[in-house]
Amino acid sequence: MLQRSARRRPTIRKAARIGLSHAKVRRSRVKDPLLAIIVGAGNRGHGVYGRWALDHPDDIGIVAVADPDPDRRARLARAHGIPETARFPDTATLVAAGVDAQAAIVASPDRHHASDAIDLVQAGLDVLLEKPVAVGPDELAQLVRSTRTARGRLSVAHVLRYTAFFGLVHEIVTSGRLGDVVSVVHRETIAWWHMAHSFVRGNWAIAATSSPAILAKCCHDLDILTWNSASPVSRVASFGSLKHFRPERTPLGALARCTDGCPVDCPFDARRIYLNPDAEPWLVEAVADDPTPGSIEAALERGPYGRCVYGAGSDVVDHQVVVMERADGATLTLHFDGHGEVGARTMRYDGTRATLRGIFGERPALRIDDNAGGSEVIEPEPRGVHGGGDDAIMRAFVDHAAAGQALPTDIDDAIESHLLAFAAEESRIEGRIVDMVEVRARLGLDSPAVRAQAPAPRGTSPSNSQASPTSTSSSPAWTRQPHDIIPP
Ligand SMILES: NC(=O)c1ccc[n+]([C@@H]2O[C@H](COP(=O)([O-])OP(=O)(O)OC[C@H]3O[C@@H](n4cnc5c(N)ncnc54)[C@H](O)[C@@H]3O)[C@@H](O)[C@H]2O)c1
Repeated sequence: MLQRSARRRPTIRKAARIGLSHAKVRRSRVKDPLLAIIVGAGNRGHGVYGRWALDHPDDIGIVAVADPDPDRRARLARAHGIPETARFPDTATLVAAGVDAQAAIVASPDRHHASDAIDLVQAGLDVLLEKPVAVGPDELAQLVRSTRTARGRLSVAHVLRYTAFFGLVHEIVTSGRLGDVVSVVHRETIAWWHMAHSFVRGNWAIAATSSPAILAKCCHDLDILTWNSASPVSRVASFGSLKHFRPERTPLGALARCTDGCPVDCPFDARRIYLNPDAEPWLVEAVADDPTPGSIEAALERGPYGRCVYGAGSDVVDHQVVVMERADGATLTLHFDGHGEVGARTMRYDGTRATLRGIFGERPALRIDDNAGGSEVIEPEPRGVHGGGDDAIMRAFVDHAAAGQALPTDIDDAIESHLLAFAAEESRIEGRIVDMVEVRARLGLDSPAVRAQAPAPRGTSPSNSQASPTSTSSSPAWTRQPHDIIPP
């Protein structure tokens, strides 16, 4: 069986016995790295969390890996010096073999998340679980129940909450500065090439083998909307479809693969996207583990990313809207769209005292216009991938694990964002309005935050007790300056 590492840092009294000064104990406490496992050695496991561990050896050491792909497993193992004996094809084998570790990062495909997390928390580990935490309501209920009785703690990688940008949005909305929030519009626009890569040719193209796009991509957005809400959502309606990437829209003369000498001048030409020298590393690393023009070309000739987008067989939406009514009467809308020129999240909160508008893209910015006059533009520093969220969540995870705690974005906290995504998909497919009170009651699931939010009478000020992973004091420096691309 897997062992939660029994390694203990020396106590002051024991240190005195063995001749260490208090200063040395303090240093050793700070430097004792968290011993962790990575499950899923792909873009997130190897490229994001693994890289963070290599950059922060005093904080975390990766001591085992689970991934069925031998090349990916070996790549991560080489990077972290993991011996053959600590490399496994999956979580169950790893747990059965036993590894001396304190924590695990689960970055396997969506459909493995819940079972991987259950095995690891039941083995007593602190787990950081990628989203979505589960692909359906029953699986979510099972995960919540298993976690509540487990020795280990489960944290969820809702990375946006750890960004300076969304930390500020949360502070502003919950401070009451906007007054009573009446209407919120939040857009998640994916760039056209990102849509083609992830949701047409790639991992998230088929809902039955991954998850519906509104869950896979927008559980982050639903989490932000939930986090900023003073009152729970009571009703959900949703519309959307796969409009473009369909066989009947195939251009005349197009071939099954872009690399077959396809004569069509097409923006989705795989060679244009992946052989572009400016293509982002995560994009080309998904195509070829060791990306060079030659290895990318070869992968496009044989692999999924060289297929014509119109015949790739995708069945997830390329656009969807979710309309939500809160118990206090406010309305929220979420727009998911895979045809943007560039990718960005944009939002607008209209309150009874002020309007907040924001763009979370290459150059994040917020603007507050007070109804009584005056406006303020804030540009939180964009810091790294996901606006700094990836770096910040790893820092927080390591610190919380050392303190014996889960992150504020724990499994209870993730219930509502996932229930809303399931409800949106149910509404979109069945063409009906979903009653969230009924959903929570049927599943016996509601988050503590929702329970705490007694339906507020209309016209009262918002208050939100959910814990914030960021705070004003820890927010990075920001500047006030004109910004010309904040949406209307
Ligand atoms: N938090 C975020 O913002 C964010 C961003 C991107 C992706 N994700 C999520 O992270 C997860 C991983 O995404 P990715 O982009 O790294 O995908 P990926 O395909 O690059 O990596 C997944 C890895 O898991 C491995 N794998 C397959 N089956 C496995 C199993 N049973 N056990 C262990 N490993 C297994 C694959 O071989 C692959 O190496 C997905 O669920 C995705 O939705 C989250």
